[in-house]
Amino acid sequence: RPGAAPFVPEGADLDALRQAAPTCRGCELWEPATQVVFSAGAPDGRLALVGEQPGDQEDRRGVPFVGPAGRLLQKAVAEAGIDLSTTYVTNAVKHFRFTQTAPGNRRIHATPDQGHVTACRPWLAAELAVVDPDVIVCLGATAAKALLPKDFRVTKHRGQVFTLTTTRGEKTFMGTIHPSAVLRTPETERDAAYAGLVADLRTAAAVLG
Ligand code: URA
Ligand code: SF4
Repeated sequence: RPGAAPFVPEGADLDALRQAAPTCRGCELWEPATQVVFSAGAPDGRLALVGEQPGDQEDRRGVPFVGPAGRLLQKAVAEAGIDLSTTYVTNAVKHFRFTQTAPGNRRIHATPDQGHVTACRPWLAAELAVVDPDVIVCLGATAAKALLPKDFRVTKHRGQVFTLTTTRGEKTFMGTIHPSAVLRTPETERDAAYAGLVADLRTAAAVLG
């Protein structure tokens, strides 16, 4: 895996990054996927939400968080008092990783591994440097792997805000659970899991003021 760096144009603005992304061959995930899914939301958002990778519907439509996890995220974001139209939304990995037993069969989500996260990270770094959000929320362990310290664990450290130095100076970071994890939570505990996500998003919103 060469990684995305050779494909990321230097000094590019967000539109130029978006235009270059389909050319990426930084890892093998581009080939079975339908298309790259770059980002959505406010190009100047003060809050950035970073997910894992596109899902089945995102891969088909080319837009992040438009499937079931996206609907849950939209609801949680609104409940946390965050205006999604002023939020930048992206993923740690820009192509859908999946397994499929035979062509035509349902595509099953496969979690990207550290190598995919590392390969794709130049895109994430470039877009965050351009958007320059004040607060960056990692949704789930994959996004945390891309942006948070190695010892970060969602179960242990979720909802905690901390300051990290980036190429654009000090920024506030947080990790929380992924909306898909809420959807996978057994029914008896799902409301609590959802409430936890909303509470963490509220904490992030409070930092924005
Ligand atoms: N899950 C993610 O992490 N990102 C998406 O875009 C959709 C589902
Ligand atoms: Fe490039 Fe990322 Fe797609 Fe891999 S997943 S090909 S690094 S855009």
